[in-house]
Amino acid sequence: MKTKFKFKKNERLFILTGAGISAESGLRTFRDNNGLWENYRVEQVATPQAFKRDPGMVWRFYKERYSQLKKAKPNAGHFAIKKLEDFFQKNFFLVTQNVDGLHLAAGNEKVLEMHGSLHKCFCTRCKTRYKFEDIDLSQDIPGCLNCEGQLRPDIVWFGEMPYFLDEINKILSKTDYFLVVGTSGVVYPAAQFLYIAKSYGAHTIGINLEEPDNMQFIDEFHKGKSGDLLPKLVSLWIS
Ligand code: APR
Repeated sequence: MKTKFKFKKNERLFILTGAGISAESGLRTFRDNNGLWENYRVEQVATPQAFKRDPGMVWRFYKERYSQLKKAKPNAGHFAIKKLEDFFQKNFFLVTQNVDGLHLAAGNEKVLEMHGSLHKCFCTRCKTRYKFEDIDLSQDIPGCLNCEGQLRPDIVWFGEMPYFLDEINKILSKTDYFLVVGTSGVVYPAAQFLYIAKSYGAHTIGINLEEPDNMQFIDEFHKGKSGDLLPKLVSLWIS
């Protein structure tokens, strides 16, 4: 395996991850599953309209995903990324499109979950946030402990604004390296981060099972599974 890069602690690293990094933890990706989320069409379970139409059905779906997650563990790819945070410390930035919480479970501290989290929900009325573990999931539609409102999963649904975009844009303009792992590069705005970082002069590196849609902006591409490739590459990059 070859790489032309050697990282220095005073440089900045920005990592964007997608569903592919969690594939080896047993979580199915979207594109590998015809764009479905565990056999559901996104408009059935991942839009504000779906929640308005049938909140009980939407909640059932997210409770199932949450209990499935409890069995999933971070894999070698997640742990390799944790090593990069230890190396770069304040110069490390990790943004994930995943809602599975596996980067946090691997020990990463600075993680921006731009599409929300399957471990959290919030009140549709007073906006109080809760962890799933702190609410009564036996209710069909869990209620807020503060007011009479309904809780909803803290997932950025289609048609909603991803989290942390201002912060992400600031960091993108100052990064030395942009590493993108396990994402098909088709869902915006995340798909354009690679282009933005490159246009500000970052070196760009990609790791993916297949070439992503925005391949033309990647300087160094490693084709394969992130759980295999990342540990080896990280030891070359920071040795
Ligand atoms: N290692 C590396 N890459 C992998 C692996 C693996 N073990 N397994 C699969 N991949 C690659 C696939 O080849 C694919 O290109 O990961 C990519 C996963 O792509 P998607 O399923 O499209 O996931 P992602 O890019 O994260 O989707 C973005 O779309 O539906 C929405 O909001 C959802 O956050 C999600 C967004």
